[in-house]
Amino acid sequence: MPKSNKKICSARLVAEYAAFACELSMEAGALLKRAYYRPRSISHKGPIDLVTSADIASEKLIVGKLKKKYPRHNILAEEREEIISDSAIRWVIDPLDGTTNFAHGYPAFCVSIGVQCDGVAIAGAVYDPLRNELFSAIAGRGAWLRKKRIHISATKKLANALCTTGFPYDVHETGKDNLANFRRIIKQARGIRRGGSAALDLSYVACGRFDFYWEMKLSPWDTAAASLIAKEAGAKVTDFSGKPFSIEKKEIAAGVPALYKEALALIR
Ligand code: IPD
Ligand code: CA
Ligand code: CA
Repeated sequence: MPKSNKKICSARLVAEYAAFACELSMEAGALLKRAYYRPRSISHKGPIDLVTSADIASEKLIVGKLKKKYPRHNILAEEREEIISDSAIRWVIDPLDGTTNFAHGYPAFCVSIGVQCDGVAIAGAVYDPLRNELFSAIAGRGAWLRKKRIHISATKKLANALCTTGFPYDVHETGKDNLANFRRIIKQARGIRRGGSAALDLSYVACGRFDFYWEMKLSPWDTAAASLIAKEAGAKVTDFSGKPFSIEKKEIAAGVPALYKEALALIR
């Protein structure tokens, strides 16, 4: 970390940012939960890429509160233009991860808020309001589900692994659609789930519900919080060539180190 940012990224401030990320994700999650039980208004960003009024309302709540508390920080949120300043701190927000699920009334979605200092992940919160599950992490200090420390599973082989993935929104138009990877993994693993929320998929790797996750064509807000949560819980988190993951990369593989190599060899 550059000297000038030592103060702004001190352990005390990082803990403060982490607590605020948790608070905001829970508040926005409560808003999503209320909206989930009401009639939903849905529009299209692409043929199968949806946005609902809840995505917008959740983001408005989070960004409004962030701007009030930290007016100088950078903010990258999915549904609006990036707010760029000279601060070292950047908040990376997915106000509703799992919009397709939400729009169809399928109960698997969350709010995801990651915090970076000079481009490095320092804290993250992922909140699932329907299960009241808050996943969080602080870099170098660990990951939690609610107040309990979490760790990856003890699974050793792909044959015993429950895996998860997702498919890109351009799946109708492209051959680079993840289906060949899906086929290779399902032939060797115990099973695959397609949850529909990248942030929950990664958080579930962190707490041992899944053993391996991979996905292509993601955006920074999908992975900013939960890639840190998975890493802090002991997962190996890389791109498809095994190089360290960063949220600017579009592809991610995350899993239990013992079987990660075996799984990654099947992913292109
Ligand atoms: C999507 C979800 C989904 C993943 C997509 C993401 P959204 O985010 O995380 O699981 O497969 O690639 O874009 O659109 O619901 O915020
Ligand atoms: Ca998302
Ligand atoms: Ca979203």
